[in-house]
Amino acid sequence: MTEIRNLSQHVNEEVTLEGWLANKRSSGKIAFVQVRDGSGTAQVVASRSEVDDASWQAIQEAVQESTVRVVGRVNEDHRAPGGYEIHASELELLALSEEFPISPKEHGTAFLMEHRHLWLRSSKQRAALRVRSEVCQAIRDYFYDGGYTLVDSPILTPAACEGTSTLFETDYFGDKAYLSQSGQLYLEPAIAALGKVYCFGPTFRAEKSKTRRHLMEFWMVEPEIAFMRFEALCDLAEDFVCSLVTRVLDRCAEDLEVLERDTKALEAVQKPFPHISYTEAIERLQAKGNPIAWGDDFGADDETQITADFDRPVKISRFPTKIKAFYMEPDPDNPEVVLGLDVIAPEGYGEIIGGSQRIHDLELLERRLAEHELPREAFEWYLDVRRYGTCPHSGFGMGIERFVAWMSGVKHLRETIPYPRMLNKIYP
Ligand code: 4AD
Ligand code: MG
Repeated sequence: MTEIRNLSQHVNEEVTLEGWLANKRSSGKIAFVQVRDGSGTAQVVASRSEVDDASWQAIQEAVQESTVRVVGRVNEDHRAPGGYEIHASELELLALSEEFPISPKEHGTAFLMEHRHLWLRSSKQRAALRVRSEVCQAIRDYFYDGGYTLVDSPILTPAACEGTSTLFETDYFGDKAYLSQSGQLYLEPAIAALGKVYCFGPTFRAEKSKTRRHLMEFWMVEPEIAFMRFEALCDLAEDFVCSLVTRVLDRCAEDLEVLERDTKALEAVQKPFPHISYTEAIERLQAKGNPIAWGDDFGADDETQITADFDRPVKISRFPTKIKAFYMEPDPDNPEVVLGLDVIAPEGYGEIIGGSQRIHDLELLERRLAEHELPREAFEWYLDVRRYGTCPHSGFGMGIERFVAWMSGVKHLRETIPYPRMLNKIYP
């Protein structure tokens, strides 16, 4: 069996392929059949005089999404999609498809979402999922090559990491448990064992808002580094983003073309990124007539307004203590703000990275837990990181779907994950 992606290695040879019928056009004596096998799409040409009766019959019967086996000779043909054409000697209908609900005509989003499992077969959906796969591999390579150890964090947890309002609760043998919002708290102890670590897995937030930037289940990659101070964290986030963008541009050119992504915008993503403080961001917004006040959190529109002045991601740091998580280290120059970092993607894709230097002082962390009314017993183990050889440390989390949406130029996160989990929607 030959994969369509490898046809170039078989020019003028006879090959056998199996796949799905993507399209068919017939004009009496000659038929053009597009076959998709997951690795690519090939044009198969069958001429009535060159195939047997059974093959010709099969070609007549086969409809969109039927599975077929094709035997034929590979010809180089620059007019054919993919650059190669197969001159069929045999075509076997392996399974006739029922009428496929998704045709090249336009469908509404609700319909497509109901048929997400079938929608995956469409060219743009396939391209976006391939970009996602490349991004995930690039992330693993980046941290592996950088000497980080993968530390998988648990999905069932007894406590909240990112606020108690978005927790999915479940029963754990009579106790309450929650689906993890972030692996961060479990990485922090691991730095004392392994130095530089990262986790990469699904995270869950019961976000009661319906926006194109929020999923209930999303994937997050989180590095955490012992002895790393805030400025180094900001550099790491920037280097990480640049490295991933370069990888996507290098390896996903065809997919970006299918997605009609303007790659010029991605080529502009070079170091250094502009870096402004939260306070400066507020001033910039106010200068544009935005009614936002110091102390407010940024909404999606505010983020878009901030990045509108720049052609690359923007780093924003030093947020008001009261709008950020309990674990963030105060700025030694101004206790009103914390050493938190957000990286905002341009073109309206919003926050892709959130991170900080962590509080490493035991007493301060105990105070913060109390201020945030978090149950101390559930965090005793986390406090141990500060009891047994504490050190300054930092980390961040990047949402994969936000990043892939930006790379792909896809507006809604639902098209960047195979099976999106959205507000009140869990089918299929
Ligand atoms: O800013 P967040 O909430 O940070 C944390 O969870 C930290 N504990 C991470 C860390 O420091 N280790 O989330 C990090 C990123 C966001 O910047 C965003 O890209 C993504 O996760 N994100 C979401 N993506 C999709 N849907 C949602 N509901 C998301 N919430 C956050
Ligand atoms: Mg955040």
